[in-house]
Amino acid sequence: MRGTVAILGASALAIAGFAGFGIADEEAELVVEGETLVSRVAAPEWHPLDQLMSGWVFRSDETQALQLDDFENPGFAAITLAEEVWETAAGTSGKSCADCHGDAGEAMKGLRAQMPKWSETAGEPWTLEDWINWSRTEHQGAEAWKWESDEMLAMTAFIGLQSRGMPVNVQIDGPMEEWWERGKELYYTRVGQLDLACYHCHEGNYGNMIRADHLSQGQVNGFPVYRLKWGKLGSIHRRFKGCMENIRAVPYKRGSDEFTALELYVASRGMGLSVETPSVRN
Ligand code: HEC
Ligand code: HEC
Repeated sequence: MRGTVAILGASALAIAGFAGFGIADEEAELVVEGETLVSRVAAPEWHPLDQLMSGWVFRSDETQALQLDDFENPGFAAITLAEEVWETAAGTSGKSCADCHGDAGEAMKGLRAQMPKWSETAGEPWTLEDWINWSRTEHQGAEAWKWESDEMLAMTAFIGLQSRGMPVNVQIDGPMEEWWERGKELYYTRVGQLDLACYHCHEGNYGNMIRADHLSQGQVNGFPVYRLKWGKLGSIHRRFKGCMENIRAVPYKRGSDEFTALELYVASRGMGLSVETPSVRN
Protein backbone atom coordinates (compact mmCIF):
# COMPACT_ATOMS: atom_id res chain seq x y z
CA MET A 1 0.00 0.00 0.00
CA ARG A 2 2.87 2.35 0.78
CA GLY A 3 4.04 1.86 -2.80
CA THR A 4 0.63 2.74 -4.13
CA VAL A 5 0.52 5.97 -2.16
CA ALA A 6 3.87 6.90 -3.65
CA ILE A 7 2.56 6.26 -7.16
CA LEU A 8 -0.46 8.43 -6.47
CA GLY A 9 1.76 11.10 -4.98
CA ALA A 10 3.80 11.17 -8.14
CA SER A 11 0.65 11.84 -10.12
CA ALA A 12 -0.05 14.97 -8.11
CA LEU A 13 -3.08 13.62 -6.29
CA ALA A 14 -2.87 14.31 -2.61
CA ILE A 15 -3.73 11.21 -0.66
CA ALA A 16 -3.55 11.34 3.11
CA GLY A 17 -4.15 8.88 5.92
CA PHE A 18 -7.56 9.15 7.46
CA ALA A 19 -6.43 9.63 11.07
CA GLY A 20 -7.38 13.03 12.34
CA PHE A 21 -10.11 13.83 9.88
CA GLY A 22 -12.82 12.19 11.94
CA ILE A 23 -15.75 12.84 9.64
CA ALA A 24 -17.18 9.34 9.52
CA ASP A 25 -17.97 6.66 12.05
CA GLU A 26 -16.66 3.50 10.45
CA GLU A 27 -18.27 1.33 13.12
CA ALA A 28 -21.80 2.57 12.52
CA GLU A 29 -24.51 0.06 11.59
CA LEU A 30 -26.71 0.56 8.57
CA VAL A 31 -30.22 0.05 9.93
CA VAL A 32 -32.88 1.16 7.47
CA GLU A 33 -36.51 1.16 8.53
CA GLY A 34 -35.73 -1.35 11.28
CA GLU A 35 -33.78 -3.73 9.03
CA THR A 36 -30.03 -4.16 9.49
CA LEU A 37 -28.30 -4.22 6.11
CA VAL A 38 -24.94 -5.91 5.65
CA SER A 39 -22.44 -3.09 5.11
CA ARG A 40 -19.33 -5.16 6.01
CA VAL A 41 -18.77 -8.78 5.09
CA ALA A 42 -15.91 -11.25 4.73
CA ALA A 43 -14.72 -11.43 1.12
CA PRO A 44 -14.95 -14.58 -1.00
CA GLU A 45 -11.76 -16.62 -1.29
CA TRP A 46 -10.62 -15.31 -4.68
CA HIS A 47 -10.95 -11.67 -3.61
CA PRO A 48 -7.85 -9.47 -3.17
CA LEU A 49 -9.40 -7.85 -0.04
CA ASP A 50 -10.30 -9.54 3.26
CA GLN A 51 -13.30 -7.44 4.17
CA LEU A 52 -15.82 -5.85 1.87
CA MET A 53 -17.38 -2.56 2.89
CA SER A 54 -20.23 -0.58 1.50
CA GLY A 55 -19.57 2.99 0.39
CA TRP A 56 -22.04 4.05 3.10
CA VAL A 57 -19.44 3.17 5.76
CA PHE A 58 -17.14 5.92 4.48
CA ARG A 59 -19.63 8.75 4.33
CA SER A 60 -20.00 11.50 6.92
CA ASP A 61 -22.48 11.12 9.80
CA GLU A 62 -24.86 13.57 8.10
CA THR A 63 -24.81 11.76 4.76
CA GLN A 64 -25.12 8.38 6.48
CA ALA A 65 -28.17 9.56 8.39
CA LEU A 66 -30.06 10.44 5.20
CA GLN A 67 -30.09 6.77 4.23
CA LEU A 68 -31.46 5.49 7.53
CA ASP A 69 -34.94 6.84 7.04
CA ASP A 70 -36.89 6.54 3.79
CA PHE A 71 -38.63 9.85 4.49
CA GLU A 72 -35.28 11.63 4.75
CA ASN A 73 -33.78 9.77 1.77
CA PRO A 74 -33.95 12.14 -1.23
CA GLY A 75 -33.84 9.14 -3.59
CA PHE A 76 -37.43 8.35 -2.66
CA ALA A 77 -38.94 11.08 -4.81
CA ALA A 78 -37.91 8.94 -7.78
CA ILE A 79 -39.51 5.87 -6.21
CA THR A 80 -42.84 7.72 -6.16
CA LEU A 81 -42.42 8.55 -9.86
CA ALA A 82 -41.61 4.93 -10.73
CA GLU A 83 -44.64 3.64 -8.82
CA GLU A 84 -46.79 5.78 -11.11
CA VAL A 85 -44.96 4.72 -14.26
CA TRP A 86 -45.27 1.06 -13.22
CA GLU A 87 -49.08 1.45 -13.28
CA THR A 88 -49.31 3.56 -16.46
CA ALA A 89 -50.19 1.98 -19.81
CA ALA A 90 -47.76 2.77 -22.63
CA GLY A 91 -46.70 1.68 -26.10
CA THR A 92 -48.51 -0.32 -28.77
CA SER A 93 -49.42 -3.06 -26.25
CA GLY A 94 -51.50 -0.53 -24.35
CA LYS A 95 -50.31 -2.21 -21.19
CA SER A 96 -48.54 -1.05 -18.06
CA CYS A 97 -45.65 -2.86 -16.41
CA ALA A 98 -48.13 -3.89 -13.72
CA ASP A 99 -50.57 -5.38 -16.25
CA CYS A 100 -47.94 -7.95 -17.24
CA HIS A 101 -45.76 -8.22 -14.14
CA GLY A 102 -48.25 -7.63 -11.33
CA ASP A 103 -46.88 -6.55 -7.98
CA ALA A 104 -43.26 -5.36 -8.35
CA GLY A 105 -42.53 -6.54 -4.80
CA GLU A 106 -42.96 -10.11 -6.03
CA ALA A 107 -42.08 -9.95 -9.72
CA MET A 108 -38.89 -7.90 -9.36
CA LYS A 109 -37.61 -9.18 -6.02
CA GLY A 110 -34.03 -10.40 -6.18
CA LEU A 111 -33.32 -9.05 -9.64
CA ARG A 112 -31.02 -6.17 -8.67
CA ALA A 113 -28.83 -8.53 -6.61
CA GLN A 114 -28.04 -10.58 -9.74
CA MET A 115 -27.20 -7.72 -12.08
CA PRO A 116 -25.69 -7.81 -14.65
CA LYS A 117 -27.39 -11.09 -15.60
CA TRP A 118 -26.88 -13.35 -18.59
CA SER A 119 -29.37 -12.92 -21.44
CA GLU A 120 -29.94 -16.05 -23.51
CA THR A 121 -31.66 -13.87 -26.12
CA ALA A 122 -28.62 -11.69 -26.68
CA GLY A 123 -25.86 -14.10 -25.71
CA GLU A 124 -24.33 -11.47 -23.45
CA PRO A 125 -24.79 -10.09 -19.95
CA TRP A 126 -27.42 -7.38 -19.54
CA THR A 127 -27.54 -4.65 -16.94
CA LEU A 128 -30.83 -3.74 -15.28
CA GLU A 129 -31.18 -0.86 -17.75
CA ASP A 130 -30.82 -3.34 -20.63
CA TRP A 131 -33.52 -5.64 -19.21
CA ILE A 132 -35.92 -2.76 -18.74
CA ASN A 133 -35.40 -1.38 -22.24
CA TRP A 134 -35.68 -4.83 -23.78
CA SER A 135 -39.05 -5.33 -22.07
CA ARG A 136 -40.22 -1.87 -23.05
CA THR A 137 -39.40 -2.36 -26.70
CA GLU A 138 -40.16 -6.11 -27.06
CA HIS A 139 -43.17 -6.52 -24.79
CA GLN A 140 -44.69 -3.12 -24.10
CA GLY A 141 -44.12 -1.79 -27.61
CA ALA A 142 -42.80 1.47 -26.21
CA GLU A 143 -39.64 3.43 -26.85
CA ALA A 144 -36.45 2.66 -25.02
CA TRP A 145 -35.61 5.09 -22.23
CA LYS A 146 -32.32 6.97 -22.31
CA TRP A 147 -29.79 5.50 -19.88
CA GLU A 148 -29.68 8.53 -17.59
CA SER A 149 -33.29 9.70 -18.06
CA ASP A 150 -35.47 10.41 -15.02
CA GLU A 151 -37.73 7.47 -15.95
CA MET A 152 -34.86 4.99 -16.23
CA LEU A 153 -33.23 6.17 -13.00
CA ALA A 154 -36.55 6.01 -11.19
CA MET A 155 -37.36 2.55 -12.53
CA THR A 156 -33.92 1.08 -11.72
CA ALA A 157 -34.22 2.55 -8.22
CA PHE A 158 -37.74 1.16 -7.78
CA ILE A 159 -36.81 -2.30 -9.07
CA GLY A 160 -33.61 -2.20 -7.00
CA LEU A 161 -35.57 -1.33 -3.87
CA GLN A 162 -37.45 -4.65 -4.19
CA SER A 163 -34.10 -6.37 -3.46
CA ARG A 164 -33.03 -4.10 -0.61
CA GLY A 165 -31.34 -6.18 2.09
CA MET A 166 -30.60 -9.12 -0.21
CA PRO A 167 -26.95 -10.09 -0.75
CA VAL A 168 -25.28 -9.16 -4.03
CA ASN A 169 -24.87 -12.44 -5.87
CA VAL A 170 -23.82 -12.19 -9.50
CA GLN A 171 -22.97 -15.11 -11.73
CA ILE A 172 -19.30 -15.09 -12.67
CA ASP A 173 -18.86 -18.59 -14.10
CA GLY A 174 -20.13 -20.27 -17.27
CA PRO A 175 -20.72 -17.81 -20.09
CA MET A 176 -20.13 -14.89 -17.68
CA GLU A 177 -16.51 -15.83 -17.01
CA GLU A 178 -15.15 -14.25 -20.17
CA TRP A 179 -16.94 -10.96 -19.37
CA TRP A 180 -15.78 -11.08 -15.77
CA GLU A 181 -12.17 -11.49 -16.90
CA ARG A 182 -12.58 -8.56 -19.24
CA GLY A 183 -13.98 -6.41 -16.44
CA LYS A 184 -11.10 -7.43 -14.20
CA GLU A 185 -8.60 -6.43 -16.83
CA LEU A 186 -10.23 -3.01 -17.15
CA TYR A 187 -10.18 -2.60 -13.38
CA TYR A 188 -6.42 -3.12 -13.24
CA THR A 189 -5.47 -1.20 -16.39
CA ARG A 190 -3.92 2.24 -15.94
CA VAL A 191 -5.62 4.91 -18.01
CA GLY A 192 -5.65 8.65 -18.53
CA GLN A 193 -3.15 11.42 -18.05
CA LEU A 194 -2.81 10.48 -14.39
CA ASP A 195 -2.02 6.91 -15.43
CA LEU A 196 -4.16 5.33 -12.71
CA ALA A 197 -6.38 2.27 -12.54
CA CYS A 198 -9.50 1.70 -10.44
CA TYR A 199 -7.55 -0.41 -7.97
CA HIS A 200 -5.08 2.34 -7.11
CA CYS A 201 -7.84 4.23 -5.35
CA HIS A 202 -10.46 1.63 -4.45
CA GLU A 203 -8.26 -1.33 -3.52
CA GLY A 204 -4.98 0.22 -2.43
CA ASN A 205 -6.22 3.40 -0.77
CA TYR A 206 -9.76 3.00 0.51
CA GLY A 207 -10.06 4.55 3.96
CA ASN A 208 -7.64 7.32 2.97
CA MET A 209 -8.51 10.86 2.01
CA ILE A 210 -8.18 12.08 -1.54
CA ARG A 211 -8.58 15.83 -1.61
CA ALA A 212 -11.66 16.33 0.56
CA ASP A 213 -13.17 12.91 -0.16
CA HIS A 214 -12.98 9.75 1.90
CA LEU A 215 -12.13 6.89 -0.48
CA SER A 216 -14.35 3.82 -0.40
CA GLN A 217 -13.92 0.45 -2.09
CA GLY A 218 -15.96 1.72 -5.04
CA GLN A 219 -18.80 -0.76 -4.55
CA VAL A 220 -21.97 -0.68 -6.64
CA ASN A 221 -24.45 -2.27 -4.19
CA GLY A 222 -26.16 1.08 -3.54
CA PHE A 223 -26.92 2.07 -7.14
CA PRO A 224 -28.57 4.00 -8.53
CA VAL A 225 -27.31 6.34 -5.79
CA TYR A 226 -28.68 9.73 -4.89
CA ARG A 227 -25.62 11.98 -4.96
CA LEU A 228 -25.95 15.26 -3.10
CA LYS A 229 -23.44 16.71 -5.56
CA TRP A 230 -25.62 15.71 -8.54
CA GLY A 231 -28.84 16.65 -6.75
CA LYS A 232 -30.41 13.52 -8.23
CA LEU A 233 -29.98 9.83 -8.77
CA GLY A 234 -27.21 8.59 -11.03
CA SER A 235 -26.40 5.26 -12.65
CA ILE A 236 -23.41 3.01 -12.10
CA HIS A 237 -22.08 3.91 -15.53
CA ARG A 238 -22.32 7.63 -14.76
CA ARG A 239 -20.15 7.07 -11.71
CA PHE A 240 -17.62 5.00 -13.69
CA LYS A 241 -17.53 7.76 -16.28
CA GLY A 242 -16.91 10.39 -13.57
CA CYS A 243 -14.07 8.40 -12.04
CA MET A 244 -12.44 8.00 -15.45
CA GLU A 245 -12.80 11.71 -16.17
CA ASN A 246 -11.22 12.53 -12.81
CA ILE A 247 -8.09 10.72 -13.85
CA ARG A 248 -8.33 12.50 -17.22
CA ALA A 249 -9.05 9.37 -19.22
CA VAL A 250 -11.47 9.18 -22.12
CA PRO A 251 -14.42 7.36 -20.52
CA TYR A 252 -16.33 4.53 -22.15
CA LYS A 253 -19.97 5.13 -23.02
CA ARG A 254 -22.87 4.27 -20.78
CA GLY A 255 -24.17 0.85 -21.84
CA SER A 256 -20.93 -0.06 -23.62
CA ASP A 257 -19.57 -3.60 -23.43
CA GLU A 258 -16.62 -2.22 -21.47
CA PHE A 259 -18.81 -0.70 -18.76
CA THR A 260 -21.04 -3.80 -18.62
CA ALA A 261 -17.98 -5.99 -18.12
CA LEU A 262 -16.63 -3.56 -15.51
CA GLU A 263 -20.00 -3.45 -13.74
CA LEU A 264 -20.05 -7.25 -13.57
CA TYR A 265 -16.55 -7.38 -12.12
CA VAL A 266 -17.13 -4.55 -9.64
CA ALA A 267 -20.48 -6.10 -8.57
CA SER A 268 -18.66 -9.39 -7.92
CA ARG A 269 -16.19 -7.53 -5.68
CA GLY A 270 -19.17 -6.72 -3.46
CA MET A 271 -20.62 -10.24 -3.18
CA GLY A 272 -22.48 -10.62 0.09
CA LEU A 273 -23.03 -6.91 0.74
CA SER A 274 -26.70 -5.96 0.91
CA VAL A 275 -28.41 -4.22 -1.95
CA GLU A 276 -28.96 -0.69 -0.56
CA THR A 277 -30.81 0.93 -3.43
CA PRO A 278 -31.48 3.82 -3.42
CA SER A 279 -28.47 4.83 -1.32
CA VAL A 280 -27.26 8.35 -0.55
CA ARG A 281 -23.73 9.60 -1.24
CA ASN A 282 -22.02 13.00 -1.15
C1 HEC B 1 -46.97 -6.83 -22.51
C2 HEC B 1 -46.39 -7.36 -21.29
C3 HEC B 1 -45.23 -6.63 -20.66
C4 HEC B 1 -45.15 -5.29 -20.35
C5 HEC B 1 -46.15 -4.20 -20.63
C6 HEC B 1 -43.89 -5.14 -19.66
N1 HEC B 1 -43.24 -6.32 -19.57
FE1 HEC B 1 -41.44 -6.65 -18.69
N2 HEC B 1 -41.44 -8.59 -19.31
C7 HEC B 1 -42.49 -9.18 -19.98
C8 HEC B 1 -42.11 -10.54 -20.31
C9 HEC B 1 -42.97 -11.56 -21.03
C10 HEC B 1 -40.80 -10.73 -19.80
C11 HEC B 1 -39.93 -11.99 -19.90
C12 HEC B 1 -40.39 -13.05 -18.96
C13 HEC B 1 -40.28 -12.60 -17.55
O1 HEC B 1 -39.18 -12.48 -17.05
O2 HEC B 1 -41.35 -12.35 -16.91
C14 HEC B 1 -40.43 -9.48 -19.17
C15 HEC B 1 -39.23 -9.26 -18.53
C16 HEC B 1 -38.91 -8.11 -17.83
C17 HEC B 1 -37.73 -7.93 -17.03
C18 HEC B 1 -36.65 -8.99 -16.78
C19 HEC B 1 -37.15 -9.85 -15.64
C20 HEC B 1 -36.24 -10.97 -15.28
O3 HEC B 1 -36.59 -11.71 -14.34
O4 HEC B 1 -35.20 -11.16 -15.93
C21 HEC B 1 -37.78 -6.69 -16.50
C22 HEC B 1 -36.76 -6.03 -15.57
C23 HEC B 1 -38.99 -6.07 -16.98
N3 HEC B 1 -39.65 -6.96 -17.79
C24 HEC B 1 -39.39 -4.78 -16.66
C25 HEC B 1 -40.52 -4.17 -17.18
C26 HEC B 1 -40.87 -2.80 -16.91
C27 HEC B 1 -40.13 -1.85 -16.01
C28 HEC B 1 -42.02 -2.54 -17.63
C29 HEC B 1 -42.78 -1.25 -17.74
C30 HEC B 1 -42.00 -0.08 -18.14
C31 HEC B 1 -42.35 -3.78 -18.33
N4 HEC B 1 -41.42 -4.73 -18.03
C32 HEC B 1 -43.45 -3.93 -19.15
C33 HEC B 1 -43.69 -8.60 -20.31
C34 HEC B 1 -44.01 -7.27 -20.17
C1 HEC C 1 -8.03 8.88 -8.29
C2 HEC C 1 -8.81 7.96 -7.51
C3 HEC C 1 -9.92 7.19 -8.18
C4 HEC C 1 -9.81 6.30 -9.22
C5 HEC C 1 -8.57 5.93 -10.01
C6 HEC C 1 -11.13 5.75 -9.41
N1 HEC C 1 -12.01 6.28 -8.51
FE1 HEC C 1 -13.90 5.67 -8.17
N2 HEC C 1 -14.11 7.06 -6.73
C7 HEC C 1 -13.14 7.96 -6.34
C8 HEC C 1 -13.67 8.83 -5.32
C9 HEC C 1 -12.91 9.97 -4.62
C10 HEC C 1 -15.01 8.46 -5.12
C11 HEC C 1 -16.01 9.06 -4.12
C12 HEC C 1 -15.72 8.51 -2.73
C13 HEC C 1 -15.80 7.02 -2.70
O1 HEC C 1 -16.90 6.44 -2.63
O2 HEC C 1 -14.73 6.36 -2.82
C14 HEC C 1 -15.25 7.32 -6.00
C15 HEC C 1 -16.44 6.62 -6.05
C16 HEC C 1 -16.65 5.49 -6.82
C17 HEC C 1 -17.85 4.68 -6.78
C18 HEC C 1 -19.08 4.94 -5.93
C19 HEC C 1 -19.08 4.12 -4.64
C20 HEC C 1 -20.31 4.32 -3.81
O3 HEC C 1 -20.48 3.57 -2.84
O4 HEC C 1 -21.10 5.21 -4.08
C21 HEC C 1 -17.67 3.66 -7.68
C22 HEC C 1 -18.66 2.58 -8.02
C23 HEC C 1 -16.36 3.84 -8.27
N3 HEC C 1 -15.76 4.95 -7.72
C24 HEC C 1 -15.82 3.01 -9.24
C25 HEC C 1 -14.59 3.25 -9.88
C26 HEC C 1 -14.10 2.48 -11.00
C27 HEC C 1 -14.82 1.30 -11.63
C28 HEC C 1 -12.89 3.00 -11.34
C29 HEC C 1 -11.99 2.63 -12.50
C30 HEC C 1 -12.55 2.87 -13.81
C31 HEC C 1 -12.61 4.08 -10.41
N4 HEC C 1 -13.67 4.22 -9.56
C32 HEC C 1 -11.44 4.82 -10.38
C33 HEC C 1 -11.84 7.98 -6.78
C34 HEC C 1 -11.31 7.17 -7.76
